[in-house]
Amino acid sequence: MVLEIEIYGSKKLREKAIEVEKVDDSILELLDNMVATMKKIKGIGLAAPQVGINKRIFVIDIDDGITRKIINPKLEYLKKLVSNEEGCLSVPGVFKNVDRFERVKATYLNEKSEMITEEVEGVLARAFQHEYDHLEGILFVDKISPVAKRLVNKKLQLLAKEGQK
Ligand code: CO
Repeated sequence: MVLEIEIYGSKKLREKAIEVEKVDDSILELLDNMVATMKKIKGIGLAAPQVGINKRIFVIDIDDGITRKIINPKLEYLKKLVSNEEGCLSVPGVFKNVDRFERVKATYLNEKSEMITEEVEGVLARAFQHEYDHLEGILFVDKISPVAKRLVNKKLQLLAKEGQK
């Protein structure tokens, strides 16, 4: 099932998400629906708060042959900051550079409740950091430069009118 995406301005994007206690059928169904939604709109990542669910869950698929289903993630930042362009399904039409760590160590539960630890870099490391921020109620536009922010402010205000509906 394809889920509806919360848009910039929605309060649901601004809450701190809650840890998952048990990976039960409802969580598995949510993960499947999130993957279907991400693929339908050709995103490379989607976090539960973006579909209005206040849980520490996200999915990532950067076209490397693996669809990651991530529950209760912890991130350790390992290597220098790099700036690159980002966008977000919840902030349509806005693309700006954001500083992210080049490499991160991620520890999380997968859909089989297995504890996974992996070191990721580049686009994948960026996706992990972007999606993790969603669980903290942070959006990438919070992290862009003041100059970039000024350029997209009007657009954000228009989106916020939509998002609050
Ligand atoms: Co996003």
